[in-house]
Amino acid sequence: MKAILKQILSKYFLVSLFFLFLFSCSNTNFIENIVSNFIKKEISSPDNSLTLNVNSKNGKISYSLMKNNKLIIEESALGMITDKFDFFNNLSIHKMQISNNNQSWTQVWGEQKVIFDNHNELALSIISDDSGLEMIIRFRLFNDGLGFRYEMPNQKQIDNFNILDELTEFNFSEDSPSWWIPAYAYRRYEFLYANTLISEISRDEFSELVEYLHGDRIGPEAVQTPFTTQRKDGITISIHEANLTNYSSMTLKANGTKNMECDLIPWSDGVKVRTKTPMLTPWRTIIVAESPSELTMSTLTLNLNEPNKIENTDWIKPGKYIGLWWEMIGTNQSSWGSGDYHGAKTENVLNYIDFGSKYGFDGLLVEGWNTGWDENWCCTGEGENFDFYNTHPDYDNKIVTEYASKKGIRIVGHHETGTQINNYESQLDSAFNYCNENNIRVVKTGYVNDGSQNIKRITEDGTIHKEWHHGQYMVEHFRKVLETAAKYQVSIVVHEPIKDTGIRRTYPNMLSREGARGQEFNGFMPKDYNNKPNHTTILPFTRLLSSPMDYTPGIFNLVDYRYNSQNDRTINTSHHIPSTIAKELALYIVIYAPVQMAADLPENYEGHPAFQFILDVPTDWENTIVLNGEIGEYITTVRKDINSSDWYLGSITNEKARNLDIELTFLDPGLKYNATIYKDPTNGGWESNPEGITIESIVVERNTNYRLKLAAGGGQAIRFSPIN
Ligand code: NOJ
Ligand code: CA
Repeated sequence: MKAILKQILSKYFLVSLFFLFLFSCSNTNFIENIVSNFIKKEISSPDNSLTLNVNSKNGKISYSLMKNNKLIIEESALGMITDKFDFFNNLSIHKMQISNNNQSWTQVWGEQKVIFDNHNELALSIISDDSGLEMIIRFRLFNDGLGFRYEMPNQKQIDNFNILDELTEFNFSEDSPSWWIPAYAYRRYEFLYANTLISEISRDEFSELVEYLHGDRIGPEAVQTPFTTQRKDGITISIHEANLTNYSSMTLKANGTKNMECDLIPWSDGVKVRTKTPMLTPWRTIIVAESPSELTMSTLTLNLNEPNKIENTDWIKPGKYIGLWWEMIGTNQSSWGSGDYHGAKTENVLNYIDFGSKYGFDGLLVEGWNTGWDENWCCTGEGENFDFYNTHPDYDNKIVTEYASKKGIRIVGHHETGTQINNYESQLDSAFNYCNENNIRVVKTGYVNDGSQNIKRITEDGTIHKEWHHGQYMVEHFRKVLETAAKYQVSIVVHEPIKDTGIRRTYPNMLSREGARGQEFNGFMPKDYNNKPNHTTILPFTRLLSSPMDYTPGIFNLVDYRYNSQNDRTINTSHHIPSTIAKELALYIVIYAPVQMAADLPENYEGHPAFQFILDVPTDWENTIVLNGEIGEYITTVRKDINSSDWYLGSITNEKARNLDIELTFLDPGLKYNATIYKDPTNGGWESNPEGITIESIVVERNTNYRLKLAAGGGQAIRFSPIN
């Protein structure tokens, strides 16, 4: 009895020391409970809506999370296993520190100029009783969610080590509907989203929901992040990660229950991460909101990244571009490779320059300007001859560059790698130096390879290893490209990327990326396999939480646009884009990107009254508000131009027609606005009349109530300009 009393008293002595330590460094609210060998620490978000509990019990460390006093993440394990030590059992909390931060910072470009970083932090120093090693688990609790990471400081006994498994769990307290795409699948992130209960996640069973998945599953049953779920009470949660650096991507393993677990994409030898001290893992993030629309406005991922590392950012410019592109991927009239139908012929490029310059576009993407397309470049990862600084004989770089500069438009470069990483890396400096010398300030990169674990890593002795698209090898490759591009003052837009984790804050030359099914699937896939009308009503609540997207909206010719082949110019009637012109315009607002493409052919824009919206819409914003939205149903977003007092609205719906009543209270007080409205006609709709559009003007102010009328599969776009 005496011994127990002594133990409890000594614990209380320790607690008092903790308190002394805490109150000396911060005034953040903090509760410490110790009962026998159970230690519980609790911190709250600055607005007290979220509460994090960290438990140390029987040598294990776990956490749980509450929103508005309701448990949303039940006790979930923390820890990892490596080849040299493990941090899972026999752990004890050695020290802890809490602090808070309330600052703001300014984006170089973005959905909003100023971002507030207001969080409370709890850093636990944990000692493994087995190895004597120390690890820090750092938690940051914001009003919009939780981030935490593992940190392995420098310590004598340890240098290099391999992580064999990260054991972080995300045990939801409710089995709720979720929206997911499979991990370990052949086409990276380019799937339709499945919508099932968390416990029902199954790639095999739901294959048809995401698009038929070829071949046997060769990885675990897991989903990609951002992974989003919505509870019965409306609380919406998304699991993702921030600052994925020198580590491998996190997927979430599903096991037929409401519990999920971190699953790191392995190297080809099964190791998950090769690392050394000092090590910082990416932040594991749980974005939490009262509603789906609030979720989309989270800034947590950006706040958990390092500040901008590029001193002079004058050369990084948002803007709009057109492309010698849709004629290959959409209308099927031209080819990337040589021959009669080669698209990137000098003459053709000059015509695009004329069009782009006439309408004030910043860039013209030219694909097929280089060599390497004539071999088997797509889609097996075997085409090896891409050249990134010598041009195709049909393409006269001197003439094009001089003409573009005379006309005040820049070429947007294109580096399709076919995932030949060695080939690309061996030319990286020359490739970006070529851009720098030829006035190219933005490059679109590409990594087409439709295999699963199919990316060749060739070691010095010539041995070939096959890696996953999202493993550490590729995470490091993508960073190398980004840093090299920055050295030559080039910004990049990545297709077939790894997912974004907010890196654009640190490297603002990381403009945009694909990383989901984009418009291209409407181009090359027949009706039954294209993006469904609800696809873009899911993206804002899932994929777009991570970063801007190069979706490439703006197709006006929505039916009968594709030829059977380049030399059979009859229409292939099995293609139909499931959208309307008004929805295509609204996507410029709903899907954020600092560089947006006007994706259709010039001839479909010339003389079209709706083209004016594409010409007007900015790509850099002072502020963004999502007015309403339900996942997979509809969303309405408004944004304020950074360079004027104009506001823009984009609203889209799935296959259902609907009316949405909104208040225009976001408009500035005391001003009257001209609202130029681009909407579906009364008989509009993606099936019945996709290319019909009604354009009208009305005068509104902030107390105007407005009814958005959206046709089936349609949308609406509005420009609000103050009347002087
Ligand atoms: C797939 C990309 O998404 C597309 O935009 C590009 O045109 C082709 N690959 C060729 O690089
Ligand atoms: Ca793609």
